[in-house]
Amino acid sequence: MRLLKFILFMRQITRKSPANLDWIQRQGLLSVKLAQIFALRPDIISIEKCKQLQTLYSQASTIPVEDVFKILKEKAPDAYHERIAWFDVEPLAAASVGQVHRARLKSGEDVVVKIIKDNHEKRFKRDVRRMSRWLRVAMIFSPKLRRVGNPIALLDHVEDYTLRELDLRNEINGAEKLRAIKEDLADDFPMPRLRFPEYYPEISNRHVLVSELVKGQTLEQGIVNSSLKWEDLLELFRIHGAYMFGIGTFHGDLHPGNCILDNDGNFVFIDNGAICEAPRKVSKSLFNFFFHLSADDKDLAFEALISLAERRPRSPDIEKFKEDMHEIYHNFEILSVGEQSLTEVMMKTVKSAVENAGADYGEEGFPIIRSLMYMDGLVIRTYPEVKLISEMRGSLDEFKSGLDMGS
Ligand SMILES: Nc1ncnc2c1ncn2[C@@H]1O[C@H](COP(=O)(O)OP(=O)(O)O)[C@@H](O)[C@H]1O
Ligand SMILES: [Mg+2]
Repeated sequence: MRLLKFILFMRQITRKSPANLDWIQRQGLLSVKLAQIFALRPDIISIEKCKQLQTLYSQASTIPVEDVFKILKEKAPDAYHERIAWFDVEPLAAASVGQVHRARLKSGEDVVVKIIKDNHEKRFKRDVRRMSRWLRVAMIFSPKLRRVGNPIALLDHVEDYTLRELDLRNEINGAEKLRAIKEDLADDFPMPRLRFPEYYPEISNRHVLVSELVKGQTLEQGIVNSSLKWEDLLELFRIHGAYMFGIGTFHGDLHPGNCILDNDGNFVFIDNGAICEAPRKVSKSLFNFFFHLSADDKDLAFEALISLAERRPRSPDIEKFKEDMHEIYHNFEILSVGEQSLTEVMMKTVKSAVENAGADYGEEGFPIIRSLMYMDGLVIRTYPEVKLISEMRGSLDEFKSGLDMGS
């Protein structure tokens, strides 16, 4: 991204009125990724603005049929062309990075074929290179920039995970990683209802991915046709929570479109390219926070967040932080998700933790926070009357015993 473009971009992000999301998307993938990061920074922009930018997590766009065939012809491995019997030109789903189509193999299996939109990678790499160049210069002249954290490290991080998403083989690796964790935990924390699609690595490559057609419906579809049971959602939170808090390695983008409830009642995680790692300190602090919150031990809960900071803040700052937090969490235990959005509460928590408690809001915190927001959105759209934190009590207890989170 050029400096001038970036200045225009920052004006979109920081101005009071809503950002022009179409403009942001037209600037390319890097611009969207950066906007998604600001969407989780209520300490820099307003909470309202954060919420608007958060809609960028669920944007979708399709590519025309002729381009689909062109990409397949140029990019799919030879073995793919030999084994495919039928390909549905009508996309099954509009996807954020690519596009998904139904197909059938000559051997009879129903599959889905995912392809990456061609133009992303080159432009994205060029944009990162340009931005990195002027950022280095700007850092020399503006010490203020350095206070924002380390923008160059952040850019490296964005580049790393975006490029990983653009290589579809990472979906196979990601699913394998999560599956191995499930196996490891089988005795202490069984997750019999979790599974992953079968992939066909021999007819896939970085541009084209063939996997089993999972029969069932995505949670997104389940929300729309009101067929999701509360016990099912709780079980999903139990599973995803174990990965996030107990292990710290988890599906980094588990929104309702990325999980299928199959016809046997299993949760099938799809789109497994973005596996995230939270440092132990982060996942443990957040676990302790929720654990104490669910027991209504608010002071202990707030203490747990303070341990996220690099070093313990001065006591007046801690006092201010706790005061803020007591205000934010006033009546938290008796309000339902519909009465009090978790996303909003979380935004205010992050803001206060950064401003008062010196919390080190590294990019490693983003994926967990985003996951919790997805969860909030899911509950608001299905069971807004529940009090989520008390419903989670059982799972939190189970994490403590089964996942060895006692100390
Ligand atoms: N294996 C599958 N079986 C059935 N439907 C699938 C499968 N994979 C993807 N889909 C459908 O396609 C949509 C987009 O696929 P996804 O892998 O999440 O792509 P993207 O990375 O673009 O989000 C999903 O929300 C789901 O509706
Ligand atoms: Mg997806």
